[in-house]
Amino acid sequence: MTINRKGIILAGGNGTRLSPLTKAVSKQLLPIYDKPMIFYPLCTLMQGDIREILIICKPEDKSSFKKILGDGSNFGLNIKYALQKYPGGLAEAFLIGEKFISDQPVTLILGDNLFHGSSLSKQMKIITKQKTGGTIFAYQVKDPERYGVVEFDNNENALEIIEKPSNPKSNYAITGLYFYDGSVVKKAKSLKPSKRGELEITDLNMLYLKEKSLKVEIFDKGVAWLDTGKYDSLYEASGYIYALQERQGLKISCPEEIAWNKGWISGEKFYEIAKNYGDNEYGEYLMDLYRKI
Ligand code: DAU
Repeated sequence: MTINRKGIILAGGNGTRLSPLTKAVSKQLLPIYDKPMIFYPLCTLMQGDIREILIICKPEDKSSFKKILGDGSNFGLNIKYALQKYPGGLAEAFLIGEKFISDQPVTLILGDNLFHGSSLSKQMKIITKQKTGGTIFAYQVKDPERYGVVEFDNNENALEIIEKPSNPKSNYAITGLYFYDGSVVKKAKSLKPSKRGELEITDLNMLYLKEKSLKVEIFDKGVAWLDTGKYDSLYEASGYIYALQERQGLKISCPEEIAWNKGWISGEKFYEIAKNYGDNEYGEYLMDLYRKI
């Protein structure tokens, strides 16, 4: 049986920590240097060869996301949209996305999580093919109390994951990239809201862990996981993208470029898209790529 791993980008939430920036604009549409934030998680899924994608957002933001991403055809993708009226927790994505998932394996990525690194694509592709169990990623941070934190034994086997612990047992935070098998919907349905009234992804991960079907992989040192949760981290993320792009003359997370490289869109389509961007640096970058072949 061929597996058809689906992708979900969770792009709701109130973004209150970034107010007033997020009063009129969804957090996941704020700029990270030269692109809307959602381009980055979208490209992470694309690097894992995931082409059927559901964007979950607030009702008032759907038209903005649609304006930018459309039906996905410009990126060789099939993009659908679903609504989350209130932020009921990350694991609610699997209830909202039940029909879309239709018992297939699924990868959830948070719309405000940025990953970058040369080994990422290879790691993603391997896990994308997994049919059973779940895989999540841990990343060493200096402020683990802000995240879900994993405790490992001496052999790097995960023992427990605790959401925002006041006394973290390690410096390894769980990132916002989660791979699950088709049983995820059933598991999400069995969760009860936490004290803060949310269906917690950490509780879902603990269900997999107790079943001994969860892998917690530590990201290679070469992978960057960038935070966008506060004004300074948002600014730093833009600086990171700017610095790398300026140095290399290549764009990070340009979905049209990835789609074309993967053969998901034709050269003619790529040219049309570049032309439609018009007279700006992004359009010129695409046009330059086209002329180079
Ligand atoms: O970033 C990784 C962390 O994400 C993990 O380490 C934690 O275990 C996980 O709980 C989560 O923690 P956060 O405190 O960062 O989650 P937050 O409530 O900020 O939501 C993350 C993103 O998901 C944010 O862009 C808003 C969106 N979201 C959040 C909730 C609760 C939704 O779209 N819907 C929701 O119901």
